[in-house]
Amino acid sequence: MPAPATPAPAATAPVDGLREVAVLGATGSIGTSALDVIARHPGRLHANVLAAGSNVVALLALCRTHKPRHAVIAEASALPALRDGLRQAGLDTEAHTGDEALQALVASDACDTVVAAIVGAAGLPSTLAAAHAGKRLLLANKESLVLAGELLMRTAREAGAVIVPIDSEHNAIFQCLQNACLPDAAARDGLRRIILTASGGPFRGRTRAQLADVTPAQAVAHPKWDMGPKISVDSATLMNKGLEVIEAHHLFGVPGNRIDVVVHPQSLVHSLVEFVDGSTMAQLGLPDMRTALAVGLGWPQRIESGVAGLDLLQHGRLEFEPPDMDAFPCLRLAFDALAAGGTAPAVLSAANEIAVSAFLKGKVAFLSIPSLVEDTLTALPAIPAGSLAILLDADAQARRHTARRIEQGLAA
Ligand SMILES: NC(=O)c1ccc[n+]([C@@H]2O[C@H](COP(=O)([O-])OP(=O)(O)OC[C@H]3O[C@@H](n4cnc5c(N)ncnc54)[C@H](OP(=O)(O)O)[C@@H]3O)[C@@H](O)[C@H]2O)c1
Repeated sequence: MPAPATPAPAATAPVDGLREVAVLGATGSIGTSALDVIARHPGRLHANVLAAGSNVVALLALCRTHKPRHAVIAEASALPALRDGLRQAGLDTEAHTGDEALQALVASDACDTVVAAIVGAAGLPSTLAAAHAGKRLLLANKESLVLAGELLMRTAREAGAVIVPIDSEHNAIFQCLQNACLPDAAARDGLRRIILTASGGPFRGRTRAQLADVTPAQAVAHPKWDMGPKISVDSATLMNKGLEVIEAHHLFGVPGNRIDVVVHPQSLVHSLVEFVDGSTMAQLGLPDMRTALAVGLGWPQRIESGVAGLDLLQHGRLEFEPPDMDAFPCLRLAFDALAAGGTAPAVLSAANEIAVSAFLKGKVAFLSIPSLVEDTLTALPAIPAGSLAILLDADAQARRHTARRIEQGLAA
């Protein structure tokens, strides 16, 4: 749950009137945090499109609070329940289902700002549609960058879409780079390296042997962040940090050998940027995603987020240590996939989605997640990713291969 609100300072006038926001993944952890920030700024922000996967009850509750013009449920069988619920609530919100409806809405004048917070590769079509339509794109759905980063960044650049990264690490880097992703090489001249911080997850300090019996409940109990189940498991395996390395490469145009990862258990320094003159800039704050979301929702202005400031004296110590790539091989696999290029990141991410889903259902062990991802990367060597069709095919093949391995009981 978001932290209690602090009193709002006097708001500055918005630069461009009321912003109509589409919140995709509205019922999830990022979606509800985004809606919390939006509700704090009724004259500046309105949630006009809300989209979810299948949770009609939660979506209806959000519609009652935020009164969007459009509500979209991905699960087609849930459309009648959504429609009935909206009617019973006396709302004039229009109900929709399906990817095509979502993409059309995202591209329409129903919104100027899109919070892309659907989990997994399912978020790619709507994220791409927002980029193509030149929207202000608050990008939390890291899997779409890992799957099709070059295409997504090129599409955004050509359409004039502003991307504000919502992962706390990339949002920190964005802030350190004076509110910019760096699409052109000249802008990166002074940048030496990016340092991503990682909390280390719930199993920091454990050896590989000590990870053999961990349960899904233990894996999703993140010590610092309150997140959805998939990203929580990714944090526990360090795959999340691996996906973020690939994400940083696409957002900021920096090769993998100039991206470092340090474990910082307090999760107060959200990432750092080192420049050629020896300066290192960091962004600090409490671990609450509403800060990153407020940066995006207010961009280029600063708006109140409900997150308290950082009391350094209360926290006292900031610690940093290297990641343990033997106990947590997913991070190494992600660096390797980035170096291999082509379809490798898409295969990595798709195999991971299937493996994590199987782990959450109790079908495979925690240590099977890196084994399955590695096995899939070996079975499907990287080929050049010349088109979206090639990437989507690699994604589909990887999902099938990993699922087959799980069925065959070859996961451990
Ligand atoms: N949570 C964080 O702090 C955090 C931080 C950085 C980045 N991210 C990234 O943000 C994304 C969302 O993470 P989360 O933690 O918010 O996940 P989450 O809590 O599991 O929420 C996922 C959201 O996606 C919706 N959804 C799932 N499949 C869908 C589909 N096919 N079409 C439309 N909506 C669909 C879900 O709807 P239902 O509720 O109906 O299933 C839900 O609203 C992920 O890519 C994650 O890596 C999250």
